[in-house]
Amino acid sequence: MDALSIKGLEKRFPKGRKGEVHALRGIDLAVAPGEIYGVLGPNGSGKSTLVRIVATLLLPDAGEVRVFGHDVVREAKKVRELVHRVSTEAAFFKKLSPLENLLYGARLYGIPGRIAARRARELLLRLGLPRDRIGRPMEGLSRGQQQKVAIARALLHPPRLLLLDEPTTGLDPRSKREVQELVLELREREGTTVLLTTHDMDEADRICDRVAILDEGRIAAQGTPAELKARVSRDGAGATMEEVFFAVTGKEWRDDESTEAA
Ligand SMILES: Nc1ncnc2c1ncn2[C@@H]1O[C@H](COP(=O)(O)OP(=O)(O)OP(=O)(O)O)[C@@H](O)[C@H]1O
Ligand SMILES: [Mg+2]
Repeated sequence: MDALSIKGLEKRFPKGRKGEVHALRGIDLAVAPGEIYGVLGPNGSGKSTLVRIVATLLLPDAGEVRVFGHDVVREAKKVRELVHRVSTEAAFFKKLSPLENLLYGARLYGIPGRIAARRARELLLRLGLPRDRIGRPMEGLSRGQQQKVAIARALLHPPRLLLLDEPTTGLDPRSKREVQELVLELREREGTTVLLTTHDMDEADRICDRVAILDEGRIAAQGTPAELKARVSRDGAGATMEEVFFAVTGKEWRDDESTEAA
């Protein structure tokens, strides 16, 4: 059974008085258990919409999405037990510390307090959160630091399917590496399946078994990072995401806020 199976997925959003944005236009993909699957694409290509539908936060307009065989619409409650989404706009108790936020989450999952506290500290330090920040209120943390706490929270009680929406965007290079290594370790240790979105071809190359390139709500190409880079005419090996994107879509990679607003 696939960890994630998506068939003919469509999503539209109303826009203005009569218009609409066709955010996902017939997405088909399957992710095997234990696979790390990357979704790449410029701003506004539909990555977060796809992740939100899998996380049961948005309803599809058409098509079928199953998580370990469970339908995200009809069995949303079951799916919520299997997935955990980490996004850049993660919610916390701002007056509580990172450690307290993580322990709160751990209690919901019935992880014993002592074990949770030790593991939470380990994860936060490993992700490079300064030691003196672990016990101070979240509201004093930078965005990148808050993102690390969100990632630590997901790793404290790993789900069957981990959804990471741009987990490393805005992190410094060293923190990026640490997140990437933790994701690889998690898959090794727990067999966790991971669906992640990224703008970063190096990241996809380093940790993803396969990737899909989204362009305006469609999958423009799908394959291993090596396969995709091989499609780029030059020497291939050093191809950037921009070059791969251009090779598969014939378009320039527009990675700016103007496409977001479009
Ligand atoms: N709740 C919403 N209401 C209306 N339009 C939306 C909504 N969410 C997304 N969209 C639109 O759907 C399209 C896809 O958006 P989405 O956030 O999925 O893109 P993305 O690939 O995650 O972009 P980014 O790289 O900027 O995060 C965009 O045109 C966006 O404006
Ligand atoms: Mg997004």
